[in-house]
Amino acid sequence: MSDWRVPLSDLAYDHREGEAAARVISSGWLSMGPEVAAFEAEFAEFLGVRHAFAVSSGTAALHLALLSTGIGPGDEVIQPAVNFAAAANMTTLVGARPVFADIVSLAEPTIDPAHVERLLTPRARALVVMHYGGHLCRMAELAALCAERDLVLIEDAPHALGARYLDPSGRPPHGRHAGTLGDVGCFSFFSNKNLATGEGGMIVTDRADLADRIRLLRSHGMTTLTWDRHQGRAHSYDVVANGFNYRFDEMRAAIGRVQLEKLPTGNARREALVHEYWRSLAGLPGLTLPFLDHQGESAHHIMVAVAESVAQRRTIVEHLDACRIQTSLHYPCIADFAGFADQGEHHLPLSREYASRTITLPLFPDLLEPALHTVCKEVADSLRRSN
Ligand SMILES: Cc1ncc(COP(=O)(O)O)c(C=O)c1O
Repeated sequence: MSDWRVPLSDLAYDHREGEAAARVISSGWLSMGPEVAAFEAEFAEFLGVRHAFAVSSGTAALHLALLSTGIGPGDEVIQPAVNFAAAANMTTLVGARPVFADIVSLAEPTIDPAHVERLLTPRARALVVMHYGGHLCRMAELAALCAERDLVLIEDAPHALGARYLDPSGRPPHGRHAGTLGDVGCFSFFSNKNLATGEGGMIVTDRADLADRIRLLRSHGMTTLTWDRHQGRAHSYDVVANGFNYRFDEMRAAIGRVQLEKLPTGNARREALVHEYWRSLAGLPGLTLPFLDHQGESAHHIMVAVAESVAQRRTIVEHLDACRIQTSLHYPCIADFAGFADQGEHHLPLSREYASRTITLPLFPDLLEPALHTVCKEVADSLRRSN
């Protein structure tokens, strides 16, 4: 497919995804129906959460998370600036204002609870956390802050499917899955995710009131589904809210079920590869390896290293590019995007530093050790050249 000697990510697909898709084609039903219902039930059971709704994307999940929790005009939503732009875009779309908090450090690029606390104003209504790379944020502190200040807690959890929060003291929410630690959790099944269906997402919650709202908003605010009517369980419907078409479909749900079965093995393989990266890259001059000492069970969605300077980052990236090894940047600082220029000044020294120096290296379950060692060797070579 690509010209890369080592691509950044790759699908963990085999004949089972093909068979699942073929099963749907021969079933004669493509839109949301029994495969979606089964995928949702299996997903909810895997996470240990009451309600799971499959949706058309992770972005749709975030939109529904904000709408179902009543976030709107005049509200402030505290969130990380080191994130994909979807949460900030959806915040703006519902009429609220994203307020960006800095990261803890270059070695722990997740939202800093102390900075969140300093940013709280009477208009703050929600906190969005993002478990960067699959490593959980400091959830005990953040959840306590949300409880104390009556903030909605939304987990933007596409990196962290299968990750669990482990607290050294064993205190709650010890052992709980990412996505189930707040009011509502959002996942994406975009092609590069640990569970991939091309496009798609899931929104999960334990709260029955939010579940009712999400169910309606996902499908036009209608009281029955086409599938219900096809089954003869309903003959008409009412529209009781102004909703969307954020539905998922049978083909992707069937593929998603296969991918969910493979997730624990895939995540374990990612973990082994990240540990091998850490062993191989440790000790290289100037490189910081985030999350090296991190507590918790990560989903290891991406492998990141932080260069000691912007110039060193450029040298490494250009060298790897010349070796046909694909790299990426997770993420530019959102506050510096043109689309957020009117959101005011944000004091984000660490986020900006991180964004300018971080490099994402290839990681996917089928990555083989020789390829990983080639990546590490080329990183070491580029550092030697830059010194
Ligand atoms: C952290 C994070 N949030 C949200 C999204 C948006 O998900 P989607 O692309 O499925 O809309 C992504 C996707 O890449 C993501 O990585």
